[in-house]
Amino acid sequence: MVKILLLLSMPKVNYYQDNLFNMHRSDRYGVEQMSAKNNLSVSQGSRYRHIAEQIKQAIDAGTLPAESRLPSVRTLATQYNISLTTALKTLRTLEDEHYAVAKPKSGFFVAPSQPVSPHFPSRVSQPKVIAPLDEQTELHLAMVGADCRVRLDLANGARSLYPIKKMGLLMRQLSYSKPFLLGNTVKGTGYAPLKVEIARRAVEYGCTINPEDILITNGCIEAISLSLRATVKQGDVVAVESPCYFVLLQMLHNLNLRVIEVEAGSEGYINIEKLTALFQSKVVKAFVTLANINNPLGKSIPNEDKAYIARQADEHDVIIIEDDIFGDTVFGERRPFPMRAFSPNAILCSGFSKTVAPGIRIGWVHSTNFMRKIASLKYTSTMGTAVLPQAAIAELLRNGGYDAHLRKLRRELASQIRQIRQAVLRHFPPGTRVSDPQGGYVLWVEMPRQALNVRTLFIQARNAGIGIAPGHIFATDHRYDHCFRLNAGFGWNDDVEQAIKMLAQWCKQSLP
Ligand SMILES: Cc1ncc(COP(=O)(O)O)c(C=O)c1O
Repeated sequence: MVKILLLLSMPKVNYYQDNLFNMHRSDRYGVEQMSAKNNLSVSQGSRYRHIAEQIKQAIDAGTLPAESRLPSVRTLATQYNISLTTALKTLRTLEDEHYAVAKPKSGFFVAPSQPVSPHFPSRVSQPKVIAPLDEQTELHLAMVGADCRVRLDLANGARSLYPIKKMGLLMRQLSYSKPFLLGNTVKGTGYAPLKVEIARRAVEYGCTINPEDILITNGCIEAISLSLRATVKQGDVVAVESPCYFVLLQMLHNLNLRVIEVEAGSEGYINIEKLTALFQSKVVKAFVTLANINNPLGKSIPNEDKAYIARQADEHDVIIIEDDIFGDTVFGERRPFPMRAFSPNAILCSGFSKTVAPGIRIGWVHSTNFMRKIASLKYTSTMGTAVLPQAAIAELLRNGGYDAHLRKLRRELASQIRQIRQAVLRHFPPGTRVSDPQGGYVLWVEMPRQALNVRTLFIQARNAGIGIAPGHIFATDHRYDHCFRLNAGFGWNDDVEQAIKMLAQWCKQSLP
């Protein structure tokens, strides 16, 4: 045990200053009763949290196995040079977070692997370190997006869907009329007129945003990455929706974060009870969500649930980071509200690769609380974002061309999704389920469990020039090995119909 303790380093990091739990508990563990007046100093207060986090990591890694004895209060106090109060608080934090159980007169033990509280999700929902990619997954990820004949793998569309010519024209005109857009050094948080337009549009979906609290990024992916880097630190636990957009899972892995995947219910969006129980258990530091038009399920969380999640997050100090990139692609007239509409603390990320042009690489992030940190991280990673495309988008948003374009884009996507969905229902064997998206580009297909090895299907399809996104890259485990995602963005034609028939045929052959 002492060896393990020595392995745990102790930098003084100020994570929390809150008083997580009541100090009036009775002395069950051979330590004198602590007084509530015995307030912790800030450094002691953050210290117990840091030590608890390290012990949690040792438990998660299996270094401290289930039901093994944890260090006593006295050992912790001596080894870490902390007071008995702080040592006890460390152990009680672990107990409150269901990592430890206390046994009267014996001390603290690592919790058994079964759930210890009806309010705490089972071991399946315990934080996970995302394993490095196995070779096959790496191959699949590399191949998603690589050239192929029938493009059913991406989450964007044919060039004809986007105002490419208009954007080209705008950029040419702007580079003549405003040469400083190319000639000046890129400084600051983005092109001010674009930020004004983004803030103006945000009012329509329930968000009052100060343009100064917006920073323009290289795509929505950079916006999410900066938000995570500004708010969480290595080893923290992040909750995500499951199935989860695979780039996001890889990002969490690369940032050395731990993840809890909360599965969607039958309605196609996250199980709210499980999610908020996690918030209450104080396990998660952040929740990264695609609350609108989730990728891959295509559903939005209803407003009343968003409001509830936002309230719970605020109450339990969970940071919401929202990827709203598909919000503008909703089918129908009413654009869904983001989580930010329900809490000023939610960080909102979005961009124009799904609406204006996949190659434009302009995204943005808005945060009321973390903008300075985000701006500093941006400055020291990519310094700024190219201004000319920002100016062209600002122009598109300002003169109304964007709205007319969106109406057309949404209509076309809805029709393409419908055609591919019907083809799947027509050709695939009974027992196949296919999502019914409210917007976006993609469909999620689920075969009967055990009936499909999607890794094999992926390779078969690739060999025939058909790209699909295999289910297993949307989770850290095997739970979606019988699923895959199809992109409808490249429209309906004979090649697509033929590809769906071939996929269906391979799936039928794999049925027992
Ligand atoms: C959910 C989601 N977020 C972000 C992105 C990427 O956004 P960007 O190209 O603006 O970086 C994608 C691309 O497919 C996506 O599906």
